Amino acid sequence: MQNTSLKHPKARCRIDARRQSAHARAREVHVAAAELERTGRFGLTRTFIQHGTVSVYAHVCAVAQASLAVADALARIGIQVDRSSLLRGALLHDYFLYDWHDPDPAHRLHGFTHPFTARARAEEDYELTACERIIIERHMFPLVPIPPTCREAWIVCLADKACALSETLRGMVAKWQRKRCSRRKGACA
Ligand SMILES: [Fe+2]
Ligand SMILES: [Fe+2]
Repeated sequence: MQNTSLKHPKARCRIDARRQSAHARAREVHVAAAELERTGRFGLTRTFIQHGTVSVYAHVCAVAQASLAVADALARIGIQVDRSSLLRGALLHDYFLYDWHDPDPAHRLHGFTHPFTARARAEEDYELTACERIIIERHMFPLVPIPPTCREAWIVCLADKACALSETLRGMVAKWQRKRCSRRKGACA
């Protein structure tokens, strides 16, 4: 059945505006990521897997886009954030630059230690604002029990959890579908 509300010009306008702002945010993230890639080791994040089949690069870009969406929603109700720090902090929050799936004993406490490794690595390559440092170091709250102390860090902390959950679930569904598919093929053979 066709959704008649979409025929309404105002509803269509709202959907178009939402699409345009999502597109503008994706563009903003792409430009900032390209700049980090040009000036540091950010390109390495493309080579490491974060969740399922999602690379660290794709994960941090998704977190950055989600964080900007929250910032835009807050701006509509008059709450402002430091957009530049929010964006760069989100992109650098997992800048640990190793494969955490590697059974190296040094990575055993990855969940607890990687925010500090990420901050140290990011500081080697980029000039960080105080806000960016807090975003990176505190994004694992509450697992790492040091809470964020600025609005931007809270946004990235929450956006990271939402993206991580969605990426993990997508990975599990894809794995389940592959298994089901191969079982069906086996039954037909
Ligand atoms: Fe992380
Ligand atoms: Fe993350």
